[in-house]
Amino acid sequence: MYEFDVGAGSKAELYGDLLKAMDAVTADEPDGIANMANAAALLWQYLPDLNWAGFYRVVDGGLVLGPFQGKAACIRIAFGRGVCGTAAATASTQLVEDVHAFPGHIACDAASRSELVVPIVRDGNVLGVIDLDSPEPARFDKEDAAGCEALAALLARRM
Ligand code: SME
Repeated sequence: MYEFDVGAGSKAELYGDLLKAMDAVTADEPDGIANMANAAALLWQYLPDLNWAGFYRVVDGGLVLGPFQGKAACIRIAFGRGVCGTAAATASTQLVEDVHAFPGHIACDAASRSELVVPIVRDGNVLGVIDLDSPEPARFDKEDAAGCEALAALLARRM
């Protein structure tokens, strides 16, 4: 059983504690799927106002659904398609305040209103993405993006 002291203070504190928890839970485990599964559980447990939290992995040049929490989701997404495919194709974070205004957004859960997708990059190669969805419009800001980019940098070495 894992017990983590994840702060309920500022967002910086929250993401700092989340990074420590993710580091602790993945440090001794070489299996990337297991590490993504625990990482998805931590994101879901500690980040408020989410309806989906998880991973898409790059497999054979496309994105394939990885470990997640939330409703069953689309399994395969081509590079360049939707928010996830755009993040993977451009290797850049996609902070979407209103998913209905994002051209090509793929609605896996009709409740989603805003989304944050962060690429996981190792040695210049995109390995996958972290995908967070929220039923709240504009749920994510630059601090969430920076916090998740730090998590992605850690996970790039754990998957
Ligand atoms: N909305 C994403 C698809 C994945 S689901 O949100 C889990 C997209 O447009 O890429």
